[in-house]
Amino acid sequence: MKRVGMLVVLLALVLAGSMPALAVGKLRVATDATFPPFEYVDEKTREMDGFDIDIIKEIGKRLGMTVEIVNTAWDGLLPGLKTGKYDLVISGMTITDERVMAVDFSDPYFATGQVILVRAGTTDVKEPSDLKGKIVAVQIGTTGQFAAEKIQGLKRIDTYDTTPAAFMALKMRKADAVVTDEMVAREEQQANPGQLQLVGRPFTVEYYGIAVNKGNTQLLRQINRALAQMKADGTYDAIYDKWFGDK
Ligand code: ARG
Repeated sequence: MKRVGMLVVLLALVLAGSMPALAVGKLRVATDATFPPFEYVDEKTREMDGFDIDIIKEIGKRLGMTVEIVNTAWDGLLPGLKTGKYDLVISGMTITDERVMAVDFSDPYFATGQVILVRAGTTDVKEPSDLKGKIVAVQIGTTGQFAAEKIQGLKRIDTYDTTPAAFMALKMRKADAVVTDEMVAREEQQANPGQLQLVGRPFTVEYYGIAVNKGNTQLLRQINRALAQMKADGTYDAIYDKWFGDK
């Protein structure tokens, strides 16, 4: 009898909205884990890790849901979301006008921009227009590609399935520069001391958002509420410092 009474009280509290929902279900998350420090597979643990991974795990915790993260190729993320394979995508994904036509985005959770990464010792590239006549490597279907396409007179844009593959082309001298998101370029520069250098300042303004299917307003609202709480109570800052404190 006592236990039933407890349950009734709990249920009343949940219904009144004064308590977070109890653990109901699973949040199926997709990410392209080739984008450190946002999402990558840790070589030692074989687990996915990164800023986005920490953010989505914390959101899941606050929603009372288990988080299942699937590592998927970049070009499969939004199609998989559309067909209902995943509930959301978190993948360092920039909120763009084009994508907003296909999916709904959470409030922005990270500000960034495109930068140019070249080999150390490259002296003739100071800004985007200096890439005239050069080969630029990008990850296909990213804002890096879209930004490169706006630069006049490139010799060529070479597209790769992943950002690390574009970095490899640069290191192997198959490309003269990579255009990619600032923190990812910084991470690669740090991982290759003395080999690579970032040029100038970011030349675009972009914001990452978490993508959900159009019309999934309930999930979107829950995500935005969790994000706002995390920003207000210092959890967001702690995760930020963990991944970007040294940058
Ligand atoms: N921010 C860029 C975009 O949205 C690149 C994101 C790439 N993310 C990844 N996990 N590979 O187009």
